[in-house]
This record gives sequence, structure tokens and C-alpha cells, in this order.
Amino acid sequence: MKQTVWTLSAALIGVGMVVAQGPGGQVAGRANGPAKGQVARSPIQSPASLPGPPTVTPQTYPAEQIKAGELRFTSQCGFCHGRDAAGGETGPDLTRSKLVAEDTRGDKIGTLLRQGRPDQGMPSFNLSDADLGAIVAFIHDQKSKFEALGGGRRAVDPSDLATGNAAAGRRYFNGAGGCSKCHSATGDLAGIATRFQGLALLQRMLNPTNGRPAPPRPKVTVTLASGQTVTGPLATEDEFTIVVLDSSGARQTYEKSAVKFKIDDPMSVHFDQLGKYTDGDMHNVFAYLDTLK
Ligand code: HEC
Ligand code: HEC
Repeated sequence: MKQTVWTLSAALIGVGMVVAQGPGGQVAGRANGPAKGQVARSPIQSPASLPGPPTVTPQTYPAEQIKAGELRFTSQCGFCHGRDAAGGETGPDLTRSKLVAEDTRGDKIGTLLRQGRPDQGMPSFNLSDADLGAIVAFIHDQKSKFEALGGGRRAVDPSDLATGNAAAGRRYFNGAGGCSKCHSATGDLAGIATRFQGLALLQRMLNPTNGRPAPPRPKVTVTLASGQTVTGPLATEDEFTIVVLDSSGARQTYEKSAVKFKIDDPMSVHFDQLGKYTDGDMHNVFAYLDTLK
């Protein structure tokens, strides 16, 4: 049972990369969908649902380093490669990249980042060893997560979508799933089944970082030496500074060494959730959301 969820979710994440239905009915395509020279296919048979090249030298990284890398990746790379590294507006899916598969602890990625491929739209970066190490750790970790999700299943059968129980889904939404901590059926999710249908709705539910509207920025709380706290969306951050958008939208820069700060990314919940859903829960929640017309 569990296995089906993994592979189905993976296929959906893949499919989600290629197409997502926006609210106005417009389709937000991904620049990196089919590789150059390939014929665009319907999302159901997307090549993105096939597994990428396997990692040549398996490697593991400390959780701390992965976490640090996630923040760096989000602020410096996520804009192009997607916050989950699985492909974004202009950058390819790094979890399926041959270069990443052949990388050992940054030997290939590091060289690429220093040089960039400016003609191809990949900028060069001058990163500290610590930042590079953290970013590499995050990319490899994402790759193994996506590999663990399977990807062997090539097509999502639309009849899979119709097996859930909406009442059970509602209980899960308000209970064990914890969805109601952030969402409300009569608030933000009212009409979700009108805005997204079928597969597009399932994709949106599993991985809202794909498609439009774009998800919110992580939120930062900075505690100054005086004890005063400042809260706002994260604009960017690097090794030494953190830049927060204040209530007027202006960028406020803080030295990391001089303040305490906490970054809270609401979207990380959705990624963690993929590992928690059982097959049944997922279909039930989908059936429930599908009633919110
Ligand atoms: C402005 C957009 C942009 C940003 C920012 C960006 N990239 Fe890229 N990246 C690209 C594009 C476009 C390519 C594909 C270049 C090509 O076709 O050769 C690429 C390629 C890559 C590749 C090689 C993939 C392959 O299989 O050849 C890696 C690895 C990579 N980027 C990592 C990163 C990392 C790590 C960061 C952040 C430190 C980053 N990129 C930031 C646009 C970007
Ligand atoms: C910690 C907060 C949090 C939790 C818990 C959470 N989500 Fe989300 N969810 C978000 C954020 C943030 C977004 C992106 C903003 C948005 O689109 O509303 C989002 C987006 C969505 C969307 C797309 C909404 C839209 O309007 O496009 C759906 C559907 C969704 N979540 C379903 C769920 C379900 C089902 C659960 C429980 C299994 C869940 N979420 C748990 C924070 C959360």
C-alpha cells in the first residue's frame, strides 16, 4: 500500500513540474519540461516521471549541514531551480541531473558553480567552502529523497483519483493531518476544486510549490540585541547577513552575528507530508478537497 503512494506521489511531483493550472485557467508551463529537441508530451506521460540517473557514489551528510544548505539553496538557487531543487522557472531539475549523479562531495558541482555557464543562463557563484558544502549536501539529499519516492510508475491513472472517501478525508484534514492548522475549507481553500481539477488539484495539494500562484516566502523573526523583535518575509540571506522585508516592503539587513533569528518556512510541511500520507489518507484528503467547489 505504502509503496503505491511513494510512486504515485513521485510521478505527480514529476508531472507537477511540467504543468500546473493557474487560477485564471492559464497554464504555467515550466521552461525545463522536455529537454531540448524532445517533443512535448502530455503531462501524464511526462519524461519527468521517469527516474533520473542514479548517484554514482552514494554519500550521506549530517542533518545540520543539509538544513543549512536548504536555506542557502532557497535564497540563491531556488528561484531558478525550484526550492526543492527539482526544477524551476529557468533552471533544470537537479535531482535528475547527470552532473549531480556523478558528483562526489561537490567535486563537479563546485567547479560548475565557480565557473557558471553564463551563456546558458547559469550564473557563477563565489561561495565559501562551508556554503558550498551545505548546498551540495542539500542537493544530494533532495536527490536521494526523490529517488526514495520511486518514480518507476510512469503514468497516473485518473481512476486512482476517484477512490477516496471525503468524510474520512475531512477528519484527517482537521485531525491527524494537521492541515487545519494552516488551512480552512471555508477560508483559503474555499473553491479550491473550482480553481484546480483532477490531477492538477492533486498536484497542488501534494506540492503547492509548483505552479501559480507562487508560495509565500519563508518568514523570519529577528531578535535584536535590545530584545526588540522584527518579523517579516525573508528577502535573501548569505553567510553573514539576513535581509528581511519590513512592513513597508523595504529591505532591512541584519548582521547574523549581532542578532538571533529564526526562519520559518511554511512550505517545508508539504514536503514532509509526502512521507506521512498513507495511500488511503492521500486519496481521502483529495476526495475531501474535491468537494470544495
Ligand atoms: C538565474 C538562474 C539560475 C540560478 C540563480 C542558478 N542556476 Fe543553476 N542552472 C541554471 C540554468 C539555466 C542551468 C542549465 C545550464 C545549461 O543548460 O547548461 C543550470 C545548471 C545547473 C547545474 C548543472 C545541471 C546539469 O545537469 O548540467 C547545477 C548543478 C546547478 N545549476 C546548480 C545551481 C546551484 C547550486 C545554484 C545556487 C548556488 C544555482 N544553480 C543557481 C540557472 C540558474
Ligand atoms: C504549516 C502550515 C501548513 C500545513 C500544516 C499544511 N499546509 Fe497546505 N499550504 C501551506 C502554504 C503556506 C501553502 C501555500 C500558500 C497557499 O497557496 O495557500 C499551502 C498550499 C496548499 C494548497 C494549495 C492552495 C491553493 O490555494 O493553491 C493545498 C491544496 C494544501 N496546501 C493542502 C494541504 C493539506 C491537505 C494539508 C494537510 C495534509 C496541508 N496543506 C497542510 C501551509 C500548510
